[in-house]
Amino acid sequence: MQIGILGTGNVAQTLGRRWSAAGHRITFGSRDPASKGTLGAPVTSLAAAVAENDIVVNATPGSASLEVLDGIGAAPFAGKVLVDVANAVTPSFELVYPNSSLAEKLQAALPEAKVVKTMNTAAMSVMTEPATLPPTSVFMSGDDAGAKATVTSLLKDFGWADGSIVDLGGIRSARGPEHCILIFAALMQSLGTPRFNIRIVT
Ligand SMILES: NC(=O)c1ccc[n+]([C@@H]2O[C@H](COP(=O)([O-])OP(=O)(O)OC[C@H]3O[C@@H](n4cnc5c(N)ncnc54)[C@H](OP(=O)(O)O)[C@@H]3O)[C@@H](O)[C@H]2O)c1
Repeated sequence: MQIGILGTGNVAQTLGRRWSAAGHRITFGSRDPASKGTLGAPVTSLAAAVAENDIVVNATPGSASLEVLDGIGAAPFAGKVLVDVANAVTPSFELVYPNSSLAEKLQAALPEAKVVKTMNTAAMSVMTEPATLPPTSVFMSGDDAGAKATVTSLLKDFGWADGSIVDLGGIRSARGPEHCILIFAALMQSLGTPRFNIRIVT
């Protein structure tokens, strides 16, 4: 698949490297592509990374994502799968959307995009290499079944097994995993490492 990743930071590069190894074609979208070198894959403008790919990943700071993606415009996102991995928090880890979620805001601003929230509840090394821990869970929220099937396949490329992918339902359910950042921050402090994750058992 051809995947445009918005952002060139730690998460963007980690996702890009792992999906590239799985055979996908990656393009990074940046506010300043000329300053970035190749990063192992082409770096274009944010608008081109959306226009030239059917799957777009939001790996920008969650507190800025709505403004950044809204700035690209709604039309270029029409029909695209928008995979949102961002956490919308202030520098002191307060929720930017305490009674909602970034994913819901993005879906409302980009109504023809198929937004799927996923992977924001784990550190980047865990999200892209789940087999480095005992079996844990990854969540997925979104209104479009086809988009969620696409994202399921992309998660499996990282090693997430069927039973580990928990479909929470529509995009409104994204506020649950987004608010997990509160316990994630506390756990990271308590455990002294970001290398942990949640496992759902019934
Ligand atoms: N770090 C983790 O383990 C982890 C885990 C789960 C989720 N997340 C989420 O993933 C997202 C990316 O995290 P990260 O650690 O990769 O962040 P990061 O290293 O700060 O990278 C974010 C990238 O977004 C781009 N960007 C676009 N608009 C921006 C703005 N207004 N201010 C700053 N950067 C902007 C920048 O790329 P250009 O300069 O090229 O535009 C920047 O390199 C965040 O929402 C974070 O909460 C992170």
